[in-house]
This record gives sequence, structure tokens and C-alpha cells, in this order.
Amino acid sequence: MKHFMSKSISGFSKLSKSKKIDWIVDTYFSNSEAAKRVLKQYWNTDEKIQQLHDEFIENTISNYYLPLGVAPNFSINGKLYTIPMVIEESSVVAAASKAAKFWLDRGGFKTTVLSTTKIGQVHFIYHGDPNRLESFFKQIKPKLIADTKAITKNMVSRGGGIMDIALRNKTQDIPGYYQLHASFETLDAMGANFINSCLEQFAKTFKKEALLFDSFLEEEKNIQIVMSILSNYVPECLVRAEVSCKVEDLKDGNISGEAFAQKFVQAVNIAEIEPYRAVTHNKGIMNGIDAVVLATGNDFRAIEACVHAYASRKGKYSSLTHAKIEDGIFTFWIEIPLALGTVGGLTGLHPLVKLALELLHHPSAKELMQVVAVAGLAQNFAALRSLTTTGIQQGHMKMHLMNILNQFEANEEEKTSLTKHFENHTVSHSAVVEALKALRAKK
Ligand code: MEV
Repeated sequence: MKHFMSKSISGFSKLSKSKKIDWIVDTYFSNSEAAKRVLKQYWNTDEKIQQLHDEFIENTISNYYLPLGVAPNFSINGKLYTIPMVIEESSVVAAASKAAKFWLDRGGFKTTVLSTTKIGQVHFIYHGDPNRLESFFKQIKPKLIADTKAITKNMVSRGGGIMDIALRNKTQDIPGYYQLHASFETLDAMGANFINSCLEQFAKTFKKEALLFDSFLEEEKNIQIVMSILSNYVPECLVRAEVSCKVEDLKDGNISGEAFAQKFVQAVNIAEIEPYRAVTHNKGIMNGIDAVVLATGNDFRAIEACVHAYASRKGKYSSLTHAKIEDGIFTFWIEIPLALGTVGGLTGLHPLVKLALELLHHPSAKELMQVVAVAGLAQNFAALRSLTTTGIQQGHMKMHLMNILNQFEANEEEKTSLTKHFENHTVSHSAVVEALKALRAKK
């Protein structure tokens, strides 16, 4: 047994991959050979693919698999999609597929991209006269844009680029604090590198030109740049997805369309006013959204951070989806900010991301926004449909059954027999363990 005292190492990043693994397994694992075996089990046999993954980040020791599943039958603006989803949680893909099928027969999903503007800011400190800063900014603004030409040339030729730069006075919040608040159109790129490069150039030009601005007093010339960085909050990069049908067409088994629609709208209303429910409600939406964001090589942390800020934009955390019944028509929709890319980043590098994008007919960023919003709406529809009818556990635990059986290394015969058994028995962890024990005892 090793002593797991904290042990630091210098020069770790310079070690070879195998030396890194040796150090890790020797330092932290009681059975270092077994640990090494597990790590190696997940290496790709194709050395080139493995090297690609090794080089995505630093200190790579292995790959971490998540399942890539697909949800077919999504009709979006009349076009059929099979949506790729990367997620570890059972029942998410099944729920998406079910919702897709449900709406396929009822007109499908309708989507619109409402806006695509992204934001970046240069944060700086200036303690002088605000009017003089304002006139400096007005004078320098064309130069701020001109100095980024080398960075923006390609983007501009494709129709994107810097949309505007504004000077924002934030001195009421922090003495001397101002921003250059810039908006960008980054087309099919998520745009982080583009925006950050532009911002750093703005900062350089701004600082340099301030030193030369005659109207500034001597002490006003030394503007202090704090940082230049894009904002992941993109409330003006918005997409809307919706489904609607006659209330009577929502009839499902024994439940009338009217009863279903009423209860469903109530469930959404609760999430609109009750943050405890809204967080779980939105988490379910993110089950769908993150899964497609991951499958398509996008940055799910950026998406998550933005979406939850957006959900609180009115000062109280609320539902991202809405529903209504009007003139006998049920409408259910989502409006959500999504900064996504279909070029750059992982999109051209990761073989499975490339495959996922091909599966989606090589979408533009705008098309991907629509697909992702639909995945979120569909997921929420499926969750609320279960919650307001059978309850979530029925479907959930059935899917979970397989995980429990795998955990106990059930063989195929045991799986078949117990899946049958649990068709009419309630699944719980202990019930599955008991049933497996009983089955094994019979042998
Ligand atoms: C589980 O991952 C997601 C749900 O809790 C979402 C919801 O409650 O709406 C089922």
C-alpha cells in the first residue's frame, strides 16, 4: 500500500507520455500495473488519431469516452435531420427520439435565427475628464478599426467583421472604470480567437494613441488597460424554435389533448415563476443542448454560462421555454442565445466532430443554432410530457436498469431475463441487485 502523501513534481509537462503515466501510477495507485492497463485500454490503436487527441490538451494520459448516440426523425423547417448527441445520461437520446417522432406527425419544428451578434470588451481605467475621453474615443474609433485590418480581412470578405465599438462609462460601479464595448459578426466561426485578437489590437492602439492625444492633460494620457476578452454572454445571438398543433392533436393514450395541454402549460408556468423548478427544467433542456454542442465540437461551458445568465436576465432565474394555448392551438417554444461555430476549433480536427457535422448536412453556424435549439426544446417537451403524465422514473429507471446490470457484469442471458422481469416490476437499484442475486442463485 502506497502512502498518498502530497508529492509535488517539477518538470512534469516535459516528461514523455509514458514517463508521465509511470509517475502517476507509481505515486497514486496501489496497483500501478492495473491502473496503467486501464489508461492504455482507452488509447486509440491508430497512432495518428491518438496523437491528435494527445495534442488537444496538455499532459494527456488517455482518452475519456462518452457515448455518441443519434436521434433520428427531427423535422426542422421541413427538412429531416438525425441529430448526433454525446451524453452519458441514459434516456436523453431516447427522449429526444420520442419527441422528434411525436412532432414529426404534427408539423415538425419551426425555427428562426433572430440575431447573430457577439460581444467583446476592453476593460480599462481612466481617471480624467470623461468628456475628453469621449472626444478621444470619437477621434480614434476609425483607427481602432483600421488597425485590425490584417486580422479582419478574411472575415470582412465573407461578410462579417467588427460591427461597432462603443465607449461605456462604468465609473458609477468602479471609479475610473470604462469599457470599449465591441460587437462582432463572426459568421460560421464561434469567433473567440477572432474577437480576442481584435480586442487586443484595440487595446494596443487605444493605449498608444492616448499618449499622443493633445487634448488630454499629461496625467490623463496614461490609460491603464486591465484586460481584453470576448464576452460569452451573447443575448443578441438568439435563436427561436417552436412546435405547435391543435390541442386535440395532442391526445395521447388515455389523456385528452385538452387535459395534456393544460397540465403541460401549467408545468411551464411553474418553471417561469419558481427558480427551484426552473433550474431543473432548464437542466433538462441543457441535456439536449449540451449533447449536440459536444457532438459538434463546440464549447459547452460557454453555452452553459451564457444560457443561465440569459435565464436570469429579468432579475430572477426563469424557464427558457414557454407555452400557451390560444384559439385551440398549443404552442411551445424556446428562445435561447447560442454562440456556435461550424468552422475552426475542433470542428476540422476531431474525426467524430467532422462526422457529426456531415450527418447534419454540413450546417452553417446559423443552421446549427437551430438544430441545437430544437434539441433543447424536444428534450424539455419529452421531460414535461413524462413528468405530467407517467412520472419521470418509469422511463428513467428502465434505461438505468442496463447501467445497473452492467455494473454487476450481468451476461447477455441475465440481461434478457431481467429486462423481461422488469417490464412489470418497478426498477430500483436494490430491486435489480436482488433479482440478479436470485437469478444467479438458481444456477
Ligand atoms: C433529468 O436529467 C432532467 C429532468 O429532471 C428535467 C426536468 O425535470 O424537466 C427530467
